[in-house]
Amino acid sequence: MTAREWVEVAALRDLARRGRTLVTVGDEQIGLFMIDGTVYALRDVCVHKQRSLTKGTILRGRVICPGHQWAFDPATGRADGQDRCQPTYEVRVEDGAVFVDPRPRTLAAEENR
Ligand code: FES
Repeated sequence: MTAREWVEVAALRDLARRGRTLVTVGDEQIGLFMIDGTVYALRDVCVHKQRSLTKGTILRGRVICPGHQWAFDPATGRADGQDRCQPTYEVRVEDGAVFVDPRPRTLAAEENR
């Protein structure tokens, strides 16, 4: 069993103001999104054709990729009407700071078994 690895990546106030931000932790490029007051973290590079999700838009609670407008559920990474899934990360907010576990959720879940 491996403990979570929390890495501080952003100030909550900055994320709230901008709505999204791109951070790099090790080899992972992670897009942070503030949607309806909740912080989500998805891999920034789209599973479809590698466009940057943080350059997309947020619409009706979905992250819309600028490449071909796939609409991702930020909580699960599932794309509406597609069979591909964007990797997501665990997020923790504490004392005005945003932390992520930079291991994609599925990988972290397997390691925690
Ligand atoms: S590159 Fe993201 S939907 Fe095509």
